[in-house]
Amino acid sequence: MEQPHTLVIGGTKGLGSTFVRLLAGQNRISVIARDKPVYPEKGVSYWGCDLLDHKKVAKTIHTIVGQSGELNHLVFFQRYRGEGDNWKGEIETTLSATKNVIDLVADQFCSAHASIVLVSSVNASLISAHLSVGYHVAKTGLLQLARYYAVKLGPKGIRVNSVSPGIILKERSKKYLLKNKKLANFYKNKAPLRRMGTPEEVAEVVAFLCSTKASYLTGQDIVVDGGVSIQWAEALYLDLN
Ligand SMILES: NC(=O)c1ccc[n+]([C@@H]2O[C@H](COP(=O)([O-])OP(=O)(O)OC[C@H]3O[C@@H](n4cnc5c(N)ncnc54)[C@H](OP(=O)(O)O)[C@@H]3O)[C@@H](O)[C@H]2O)c1
Repeated sequence: MEQPHTLVIGGTKGLGSTFVRLLAGQNRISVIARDKPVYPEKGVSYWGCDLLDHKKVAKTIHTIVGQSGELNHLVFFQRYRGEGDNWKGEIETTLSATKNVIDLVADQFCSAHASIVLVSSVNASLISAHLSVGYHVAKTGLLQLARYYAVKLGPKGIRVNSVSPGIILKERSKKYLLKNKKLANFYKNKAPLRRMGTPEEVAEVVAFLCSTKASYLTGQDIVVDGGVSIQWAEALYLDLN
């Protein structure tokens, strides 16, 4: 049987590259990012394309489907990290680009077991004052995009869900996060699982949502934060034991 074809948007760095590594060998994988990686994953086809260039995105997707066939899965990991107008950047890169790609590929899925996963954040529902308002609003928008398209595309056999990670120890941020003593102590003493999460733990949940094991799951958001966001903030300071 032919391997499923998975298109990963933003699969060259961070959580996206971990997901690509997890699926490589089991899926035919196409990846879109602006730059191709220095150390590409074997058997994966990479496409250099800026999501904000809508004409090029349409052309790239057309070529990907022409070369590697219709899609089974589509996953969005892109993250806006530009300078300048942060609000515009977040809305365009996170929200508009996601909607644009979904609209482009909605008719390019294999009819059986199709799935779309949008990677959002705990900041879709909670506020982290050190992050921008654009990040929060764009991430909240992704949850509604997932629900909207779950209803619209469900009749075509396409499931649409989102994943909302909390702090994840990526290779690039690991040292910085663990060096922050207050943060590390919080996780060690107050977080339900007493540790931060790994990129593999997010990738596995995304892979589950793509798989047939999640065949009756659509329009849902799965929070992958080790239970940190279910605690009431004030209670963390009440030492009653
Ligand atoms: N890391 C965490 O702790 C964490 C926590 C919660 C949620 N998340 C979410 O998880 C996702 C991945 O985060 P990350 O930290 O792993 O991101 P990252 O390391 O910054 O990687 C982002 C990816 O998106 C691509 N990208 C960015 N802008 C693009 C554009 N205009 N066109 C095409 N590709 C573009 C990047 O490649 P190029 O730069 O080459 O284009 C890269 O492959 C994001 O949605 C993020 O909000 C992460």
